[in-house]
Amino acid sequence: MNGNSKVKALPASFYDDFLSDQAKEWLFSPIRGLFPLEKTPGIISLLAGKPAPSTFPFTSLSFTAKDPTNETSETTITIPQDQLAPGLQYSDTTGLPELLGWVTGLQERVHGRKHGRNGVGEGVEGWRVSIGSGSQDLIYKAVAAMVSPGDPVLVESPVYAGVIPMFKHLHCKQIEVPTDAHGIRSESLREKLENWPQGQRRPKVLYTVPYGCNPTGMTATLERKKEVLRLARKYNFIILEDDPYYYLYYGKTVRPPSYFSLEATEPFGEEGDGSDAVGRVLRFDTFSKILSAGLRIGFATGPEALLNRIDLFTANSNLQVSSLTQLITFHLLQSWGYDNFLLHTRKVSEFYRKKRDVFEKALERWLGSGEATSEGRLAEWNAPVSGMFFWFVFKLLIDPTATEEEDSRTLIETHAFANGVLALPGTVFEPNGSKTPYVRASFSLLEERDVEEAMKRLRKTVLEVRKARKQARTKNKRLGTSMM
Ligand SMILES: Cc1ncc(COP(=O)(O)O)c(C=O)c1O
Repeated sequence: MNGNSKVKALPASFYDDFLSDQAKEWLFSPIRGLFPLEKTPGIISLLAGKPAPSTFPFTSLSFTAKDPTNETSETTITIPQDQLAPGLQYSDTTGLPELLGWVTGLQERVHGRKHGRNGVGEGVEGWRVSIGSGSQDLIYKAVAAMVSPGDPVLVESPVYAGVIPMFKHLHCKQIEVPTDAHGIRSESLREKLENWPQGQRRPKVLYTVPYGCNPTGMTATLERKKEVLRLARKYNFIILEDDPYYYLYYGKTVRPPSYFSLEATEPFGEEGDGSDAVGRVLRFDTFSKILSAGLRIGFATGPEALLNRIDLFTANSNLQVSSLTQLITFHLLQSWGYDNFLLHTRKVSEFYRKKRDVFEKALERWLGSGEATSEGRLAEWNAPVSGMFFWFVFKLLIDPTATEEEDSRTLIETHAFANGVLALPGTVFEPNGSKTPYVRASFSLLEERDVEEAMKRLRKTVLEVRKARKQARTKNKRLGTSMM
């Protein structure tokens, strides 16, 4: 337990029950396991098969980057030979120490959680950071480390399509927890957990994307998050907080805290039996949406015991993330400092806010009440306050007695495509493949002109489908009468 802080952390042994069957069998890499000892002062290491740096052709590296304080200026960052060396060599499984230190400091600052040891090992509140090849890499490893074949898992629904194959491959029972514009519907989650079938394995994890969710665009409110956290404590599960759109928040109100932040500030001692301690959140961040998706750098933040298993997976699979991309990222971030990094993220979020506005204006005009006066609204949606996705449903029903819209797949793949526009049919985000009338549209790349044109084409599609249905119904009715 940590001595320096008031925050209590769950002990390492707590996580024994959270490890998957396979993770318990992963072996330490005999070489990487001894790596840290090389750093002992005075040691002469004959350990690793590291190539001799003098044979590497690279001598220095320079790149230019935008200056967050001045739109029109660029800064040249040069990494001289001596500082380039760590980027050219094998490095720690967990991540390049310099970058780990920087990212740990960022988590302390942004989420108000204390580490206190500059990124080295377990911090005073029981957490640390590991770097991965994007957050996808870390999520996959976390799932493999925690979930055994056949386990039930709680997944928000609709869910990021990138995790569905992971759970399917493990033959997990994906328990869908419905979401709405405010996040996970916590009362539904509570009901499921309260009425869990007797004698059946209980879920160890809940997967959620709380900011600008992919695909629904929803951002979870503070109240919902508190409720979910309370349930995690009561029913003993870990929240997998996948948060790539955290820095893309452009809502007007104060942003809700992350689960990682909240677990340390929500009143302690609620249960008085240890369930109040921190360590129930495993958080995933990424630089993909704010620096570059091609860097492939993400970071997991959470309990040391879980990160140790993730690192074990890394040591056995890809050894580590590229030292060079970590070094480049570190030099960029170090040259900016935390303030300018955060300034940069605010500029990025402002960029997406403007894109959101353009998209919504066109959506309203062509599929909302703007042009659609005689036909009524052709689509419904909630505007996102973070991220890059709109989640909407087309109003295809003309029959006032019908209650359910049908699946959007044919509408998108056949009719919309024929009219020269594409989006993602919502069914790909349904954990168990249910049909859904919803559609995900990404607004990150399009210019205003293309957005307008896309909306016009969608409008044409909806009107055509409506017309075809009306004709089919009239024909059916006529046939019905003539047969009488
Ligand atoms: C919800 C979610 N999680 C994870 C990822 C993977 O991101 P990364 O580039 O960090 O691997 C994405 C990418 O779009 C995403 O939307």
